[in-house]
Amino acid sequence: MEGVFESESEEQTLAFGRRLGSLLVRGDVVGIRGELGAGKSVVVRGICEGLGIRQRTRSPSFTFVNRYGGPVDVYHVDLYRVAETADLATLGWEDAVYSDAVTLIEWAEKLGALMPQASIRIDIDVTGEESRRIRLSSPGKNHEDIVRKVLCDRG
Ligand SMILES: Nc1ncnc2c1ncn2[C@@H]1O[C@H](COP(=O)(O)OP(=O)(O)OP(=O)(O)O)[C@@H](O)[C@H]1O
Ligand SMILES: [Mg+2]
Repeated sequence: MEGVFESESEEQTLAFGRRLGSLLVRGDVVGIRGELGAGKSVVVRGICEGLGIRQRTRSPSFTFVNRYGGPVDVYHVDLYRVAETADLATLGWEDAVYSDAVTLIEWAEKLGALMPQASIRIDIDVTGEESRRIRLSSPGKNHEDIVRKVLCDRG
């Protein structure tokens, strides 16, 4: 199942993230793809707000993985600086993905086939200075509902 959300502002992207975050449960993994400055970190911020995380989200740089405590803990993984697959071995992303927290992965494409099958996928295309096409999809049947709700219930 795939759906498209056209965002016209950072605030709309944040709101999209909040809606998604409010629907996620323990163990969910969200892979986020898009070029530099597309808005991956904005989506992460929104999702964390939707999950009730009060801590400020900061893109992990030296650590690759940040953990935020909340009603459900969140792992924030950013693989931007991963140059080759071998680098992935020592980052600790597996502990995140196979935990009972929610895991949000920026530059998820760097995981390639290591990305869990049952994850939620977000692709962000830059369509203008402040406009973004956000595609939300999930191959897993248990996430179809989430995709539908995020894209249809625009409260
Ligand atoms: N509709 C929009 N949605 C999201 N961000 C937007 C939008 N319009 C403009 N922006 C701006 O685009 C930038 C997105 O930055 P952000 O750090 O989220 O990108 P990123 O994809 O995480 O980049 P990086 O690959 O460097 O981590 C912000 O400066 C934000 O204000
Ligand atoms: Mg980012």
